[in-house]
Amino acid sequence: PVFAVIMAGGAGTRFWPKSRLKNPKQFLQLLGKASLLGDTVRRVSMLVEPEHCFVLTQLQYQDQVHESIPEIPPENVILEPANRDTASCIGLAAIKLARINSEGIMMILPSDHYIGYETAFIKTLESAISYVEKQNCLMTLGIKPDSPKTGYGYICCGRQLDTEKGYPIYHVQKFTEKPDPVTARNFLKQGNYLWNSGIFVWKISRILKEIEEHLPELYQKLQEIEPYLNTPEEKKVLDKVYPQFPKVSIDYGIMEKAQNIATVTGDFIWDDVGSWSALEKYLPKDERNNTLNGGKHIAIDSRGCIIDSEAKLIATIGVENLIIIQFEDVMLVCPKERDQEVKQLVEKVKGLD
Ligand code: GDD
Ligand code: MG
Repeated sequence: PVFAVIMAGGAGTRFWPKSRLKNPKQFLQLLGKASLLGDTVRRVSMLVEPEHCFVLTQLQYQDQVHESIPEIPPENVILEPANRDTASCIGLAAIKLARINSEGIMMILPSDHYIGYETAFIKTLESAISYVEKQNCLMTLGIKPDSPKTGYGYICCGRQLDTEKGYPIYHVQKFTEKPDPVTARNFLKQGNYLWNSGIFVWKISRILKEIEEHLPELYQKLQEIEPYLNTPEEKKVLDKVYPQFPKVSIDYGIMEKAQNIATVTGDFIWDDVGSWSALEKYLPKDERNNTLNGGKHIAIDSRGCIIDSEAKLIATIGVENLIIIQFEDVMLVCPKERDQEVKQLVEKVKGLD
């Protein structure tokens, strides 16, 4: 079988004040009717049955997960007792799914991205699944980069290995997670680099082998837990052992070290919607380029603003390129080009974070 494993335990803060510690980005309805997590589940349900769809999150987000995706059976929501980053999260999912079928394939999906042209996206995933079935490699979905962003993993594409369901599959020569700005600019100049989307496909047995080889400390902790899975002691053991798992991402821990990685890229739209200004592209604008995501805006001579508010009316005069966000008891006003600093700001607002 093919399993979908959705990672919904991150603590993204750049959409403050809409995102809060207790309600991070994946649970927000930023684009469209559903939350980003809800959209992720809806998309993969074009490929897998709900009983083969698993969501990993932290204990503290349990309620938001059930609210966001009621269609997923509660026993498919795996709760991590602590935040130990994505390698630990994927390791836990892998030992759990290995109990069902260790030769099954797992698709790893972040829960907080925007994806457009969904049919093309699903076809690309199908091509990755089909290639993994044959070649038992690690697959990552690559994205054509448009700027030297430093927050992503970079895939150095080597020779074409094959064509799978109409999509070219490339060998990954090297994987570099979050390069410095100079390196990222060089990668873009060279032209044979893709961004890592953070969407992976591999066999369960294969990723467990990679963890054993490259993250032995994590492997050993997983072995400690494994005998207790599906027993009455599972939760107790997990609560005790999981917080001791190494805190490392799959990108640094496995993808930078493993051999035999392949990549496929498709013509879907991918955006990790990292901050407020990223929404602009996907939402309708008025004649002065203002983006309104909820609320009403009346203005004189105001352009290029991004506004999201529960207030009856937001009124502006003579302002340009501002982000104006009001949510519950907080209001944020900041220039569009400084929206990355929201992360630092949140560290200062104890109590309302
Ligand atoms: N369950 C669980 N537990 N989920 C987690 C955890 C955890 O401990 N940590 C992060 N996540 C979830 C996040 O909610 C997100 O959906 C996904 O895992 C990826 O984590 P991020 O923290 O957002 O990673 P990143 O954005 O810095 O980098 C990754 O994504 C980039 C693309 O957006 C890497 O894979 C990069 O290589 C990639 O380019
Ligand atoms: Mg991310």
